[in-house]
Amino acid sequence: RVEKQTKDSVTFSWSFGRYQLRVWHSPFRLEILCEQEVMCTFMELNNQGTECTLNFILRATCCAPSGPSSIGADLCLHGFRHVYGLPQHADNLQLRDTRDGEPYRLYNLDVFAYPLYSRLGLYGSVPLMVAHKPDRTLGVFWLNASETFINIQYSDHQTLFYCSLNGVHSNFSPSMLRYQALPPLFALGYHQCRWNYIDEADVKSVDAGFDRHSIPYDVIWLDIEHTDGKRYFTWDPVHFPEPAKLQQHLEKKNRKLVIISDPHIKVDPSWSLYCEARDRGHFVKDREGQIFKGSCWPGESSYLDFSSSATRAWYSRCFGLDKYKGSTPSLFVWNDMNEPSVFSGPELTMPKDAVHCGAWEHRDLHNLYGFYQHMATVEGLITRSGGLERPFVLSRSFFAGSQRLGAVWTGDNVANWEYLKISVPMVLSLSLAGIAFCGADVGGFIQDPEPELLVRWYQAAALQPFFRGHSANVTNRREPWLFGDEVTAAIRTVIHQRYSLLPYWYTLFHQAHTSALPPLRLVLLNFPSFYVGGALLACPVTEPGIQEIKVLLPGSDEIWYDIHSALVYKGGRTLSLPVTLDTVSLDDNFTIPARWLGSLQISRKFPNCNLLSPQGTADGELYLDDGHSFRYRDRKVFCLRRFSMLSGRLLCRPASEEGTFDCNTVIQSVTILGVKSKPSAVIVHASGKEIWH
Ligand code: NOJ
Repeated sequence: RVEKQTKDSVTFSWSFGRYQLRVWHSPFRLEILCEQEVMCTFMELNNQGTECTLNFILRATCCAPSGPSSIGADLCLHGFRHVYGLPQHADNLQLRDTRDGEPYRLYNLDVFAYPLYSRLGLYGSVPLMVAHKPDRTLGVFWLNASETFINIQYSDHQTLFYCSLNGVHSNFSPSMLRYQALPPLFALGYHQCRWNYIDEADVKSVDAGFDRHSIPYDVIWLDIEHTDGKRYFTWDPVHFPEPAKLQQHLEKKNRKLVIISDPHIKVDPSWSLYCEARDRGHFVKDREGQIFKGSCWPGESSYLDFSSSATRAWYSRCFGLDKYKGSTPSLFVWNDMNEPSVFSGPELTMPKDAVHCGAWEHRDLHNLYGFYQHMATVEGLITRSGGLERPFVLSRSFFAGSQRLGAVWTGDNVANWEYLKISVPMVLSLSLAGIAFCGADVGGFIQDPEPELLVRWYQAAALQPFFRGHSANVTNRREPWLFGDEVTAAIRTVIHQRYSLLPYWYTLFHQAHTSALPPLRLVLLNFPSFYVGGALLACPVTEPGIQEIKVLLPGSDEIWYDIHSALVYKGGRTLSLPVTLDTVSLDDNFTIPARWLGSLQISRKFPNCNLLSPQGTADGELYLDDGHSFRYRDRKVFCLRRFSMLSGRLLCRPASEEGTFDCNTVIQSVTILGVKSKPSAVIVHASGKEIWH
């Protein structure tokens, strides 16, 4: 409502006056207030009589039909000294003052072995910054998909923070900001990838290797070489003559196959898919109105115009089981090179004056190109199942909103310790910006990791949402059992631990799906530690030769338990923990459901509950459903239970009015930590009835 009007300004308020927006008309500026305190001023520089374009970088757009266009703004965040977000950059978590160099750039690009500690644009962009100070967190979201630059200045004396953004208009809607998609359960397991598994025999032998070494995994991946001459939706007839049989072989063990499908299409007039796309007008055009041609893996290629809903619908249909020969319902998809990568283009991408449907220039929607391919693929997989099954699609490029489509990863990293270290802020920054299902290639994609690095990488990545080993074509093979018994055992331990925590991960994804809270959460000012959900504190080892790790345990009143030894520590102090090759640093302080699951041959079917009882209380949730369909959504077939421990009583109750799920799951064991003396009796009730004493 309008709260106040003066000759210079008008003040609106909402939430019973808690929040206010004040608009000043001369000079124009906006203030956002919370409880009478000014949080943020839009066009503050304008008000100070300073050129508001001070930090802008203008982009000449001389070829644009509508003439050069650019937009900029400045914001002042009052009293905020820490700001995070703006993925994707290979840089520290906290955004830096940019006066010492380049602004942050958001421009999706294919950067092989990307430079570290850089503000260069990488594969995806989310124009969201989150500023934090005691008691207040504030987000700035710039909904624009064209090239954007952000300058940041921290100012100590006035505690001001300025940023400016530059870009041009775009056409998309805020509905992109919905919550994380609930992935199928298998997608949270371990994925094994390589460029490339050579043929069907190779895939089967790697698959058997996991069983032989008692290492659980759920998905094996095929890179570009599985195709017939880099024509996506086809199979190499020599190396993959019976792809459906291969998928059935894997599916018998409940395992899936993921294949790659890139956005470039080989220019090949003898290939029906190319001809169809060409004849139906599904390709991006150049500025002269001809089909745009650039080079990529297949050589001369054209690029599907995913910004067009007709093209998306057509592409989606290409995933139909009848159309995509050799595919079965257990095949899932990986969208790569979708920045888009154009080897012959400026900065290895599409020229800005290429033209999309509706006469939009590429410059206007560049950062959305990969998002739209991801969307079309996801729709294709959903449609393939008649709307019943949840899709799994990994995309390299992304934008705000990609979280409701699937997973992303951090692209072409290198097998060295610095890249392992940077993977932590990179996935945290993605999580903070809402892209919760993210991870980095385990071991480093480029070059060969030394065994110690490989083990540490598995340990760090097992604590990140998307967990996939991947390596480039010229690297040595690196399946987990190729480095001797000690390494195999360490990797086995950590993958088992990941599987034992799968119900916890799944419950966290359910929370992300329903409330947007990401599974990975920041421990502010306590890098490289981070939280996995509300219960686990993780501190991965990211340096070689470490014998001891220091972990700052947050909260002076908190009690922390070492998840392996069950030793108890008080919060508010730095702990020195001895570390061996087999050590994963994990501490927890709440209730965690855990079990062995899935395709693991030695699977145990029942959850174990760890109940940790700081000050005699503990609290946590467990979410279960069939793990693959939309029945949780369409027919409320799920179970959400709350476990709470209070005054010596552990209660297990439904946490939601909705939902029924007949899953025959029983609790196999309950571990209660922090009990001071031996209980005199343990009484178990079911539905109010005592059943065991
Ligand atoms: C680039 C991707 O980042 C990488 O993961 C993939 O293996 C290669 N393209 C080949 O498809």
